[in-house]
Amino acid sequence: MPGPPPRRSWYIAARARDVGPKPVATTVLGEPLVLFRDADERPTALRDRCLHRNMALSAGRVVGGCVECPYHGWRYDSRGRCVQVPSLGVDRAIPAFPPLPAYPAVESDGYVWVFMGDGAPAAGPFRFPFLGEAGWTTFRMRTRFAASALACLENFLDCPHTVFVHRGWFRTRDPRQLRARVRRYADRVEADFIDEPRARSIVHALFVPAGQPPTHRDCFLVPTISRVDYRFGPTRHFIITSQCTPVSEDETMVYTVITFRFGRVAPLVRLLFEPLSRWIIRQDVAILSGQTAQLRRFGGPRFTSVETDLFAGHIRALWGRPEPGAPLPSPEPGGPEGERPEVDTHVAIRF
Ligand code: FES
Ligand SMILES: [Fe+2]
Repeated sequence: MPGPPPRRSWYIAARARDVGPKPVATTVLGEPLVLFRDADERPTALRDRCLHRNMALSAGRVVGGCVECPYHGWRYDSRGRCVQVPSLGVDRAIPAFPPLPAYPAVESDGYVWVFMGDGAPAAGPFRFPFLGEAGWTTFRMRTRFAASALACLENFLDCPHTVFVHRGWFRTRDPRQLRARVRRYADRVEADFIDEPRARSIVHALFVPAGQPPTHRDCFLVPTISRVDYRFGPTRHFIITSQCTPVSEDETMVYTVITFRFGRVAPLVRLLFEPLSRWIIRQDVAILSGQTAQLRRFGGPRFTSVETDLFAGHIRALWGRPEPGAPLPSPEPGGPEGERPEVDTHVAIRF
């Protein structure tokens, strides 16, 4: 399997509204976590394994900002320290156990994010663009994929599959050639599509004004975020952002935020586009679970790539960095550090 996504990064662990008075079980990068809120309502993430006999703390309850194991009632505070062992009574001190691993957790943009690396994070989590800003409308989806985070990201940033998996919905096959300019930076990869024609499809017929060629950019952001932007003229802008939380090697929880500015017709766009988006993502769920079943059947991937597979190689390259977002130790030829791209190429592509 390809190298894993970096641990030293923030990932969405749950929707904030799901972390209420009861503990919540979740898994990030293969690590089972219990999420709960401390006495100040701040989210907390601990390894979901009681120190005593390893019961899942997420099956217990939250008492006074601590999580209580359902088996013998040991309690843990937000730093993972054991603060109560009922069988010892109140007059005997709790032995100095090493605490449960606790991961930095914050609430942001309606999600609980956890930082899975060692030590303290250098910055806060990713912020979703234009979320809650005046004139912008948002809806969200949460989708479980039986596929690796890399397979999900490649799918979300891959145009050629749309004419097959989403036949007629998004795009139809088009003999016209266009160009993709692909630029890789230390923390992201951008593909700008040049001369992209207006597609013959249901989505375009409904939402894309005639005579307004779209501006289309696909972007990968470290560690596991895809962002797709479509602009139609100066006032209409559509952004689909997907944060992919790796659950295990072949399971990913995808949190999708669709934010758009469409003037007066925005409520109508949402009414139509929300069910349509759910329909389209189900088609991707099906194709990716089929792909994962194949990888298992044949004992792992044996991929063959072509230059129109724009993203996967770059995603692997950025995941291989010692620090997420760090520039190469020795910059590639012609790719000075900073905002100048490390890689800048043009690829001819047909949809
Ligand atoms: S297993 Fe948790 S208190 Fe015994
Ligand atoms: Fe798709």
